[in-house]
Amino acid sequence: MGYNLLKGKKGIIFGALDANSIAWKTAERVHEEGGEFVLTNAPIAMRMGALNTLAEQTGSEIVPADATSIEDLENLVEKAQEILGGKLDFVLHSIGMSVNVRKGRAYTDQNYAWTEKGWDVSAVSFHKTMQTLYKKDAMNEWGSIVGLTYMAAQRVFPDYNDMADNKAFLESIARSFGYHFGKEKNVRVNTISQSPTPTTAGQGVKGFDGFIAFAEKMSPLGNATAQDCADYTVTLFSDLTKRVTMQNLYNDGGFSNTGVSREVMDAFVKDQE
Ligand code: NAI
Repeated sequence: MGYNLLKGKKGIIFGALDANSIAWKTAERVHEEGGEFVLTNAPIAMRMGALNTLAEQTGSEIVPADATSIEDLENLVEKAQEILGGKLDFVLHSIGMSVNVRKGRAYTDQNYAWTEKGWDVSAVSFHKTMQTLYKKDAMNEWGSIVGLTYMAAQRVFPDYNDMADNKAFLESIARSFGYHFGKEKNVRVNTISQSPTPTTAGQGVKGFDGFIAFAEKMSPLGNATAQDCADYTVTLFSDLTKRVTMQNLYNDGGFSNTGVSREVMDAFVKDQE
């Protein structure tokens, strides 16, 4: 059900790969709330052509951009304003990738060229996106920028590998840029720390099935779904959260503040018998 929360608002949504993607669900929700946007992804990710379906469904145009390329980002920000007919009100950065994770390299045996690629794609791309928006003065006052992160930035999940460091970097960029964007242009910047979610990126993490089942049993409200994340993002893009900025906001069913749950304790005790 829509509430017209984003009526008249325009933006860019990065990272919809397929119908499981958090960005895909968010695009659908933003459309439902009356927002208009340009969809973007890395040129290589669009080979499958799935994004065309979402574009048709939401009446959006697609502008390809590798989020690590300033040239691509400049082109994207210019084109998006042309297509949408003015400055932007919201941007979703929904991008993450670790080559070490993909290729099964342990955290204690990193290939540093891959480590660098991972932080460029997963964290610095957020800075590059915001710097491009900032320099081009492309955001309207009281606009909102959201990045997606995971709690491995605060606590150790051994198989999350170097993505944990990338997420810590991403969250720090949100705070630091949030200060400058707030001061100069009244634009807010936040990250949402989301529960494990069955997407292409999520399932790339070793032992993901155990990971998501454990989180489900630990969280008093259960895991937040991609749909829940889309809903939360809509509130952050809306005028109802105008002075929420520089925050890392948990959308995790209570996982991050739970020491142990009854279900996990019962399973543990049973295992001891
Ligand atoms: P996904 O695999 O559907 O989306 C990741 C996107 O990043 C893809 O669309 C991919 O094409 C894009 N991407 C990769 N390299 C790029 C580049 N150079 N330029 C532009 N785009 C690029 O997976 P998901 O889960 O929807 O990921 C979205 C965000 O949510 C990521 O930041 C991820 O780390 C974060 N997140 C995911 C969780 C999960 O369990 N799935 C949990 C917490 C956070």
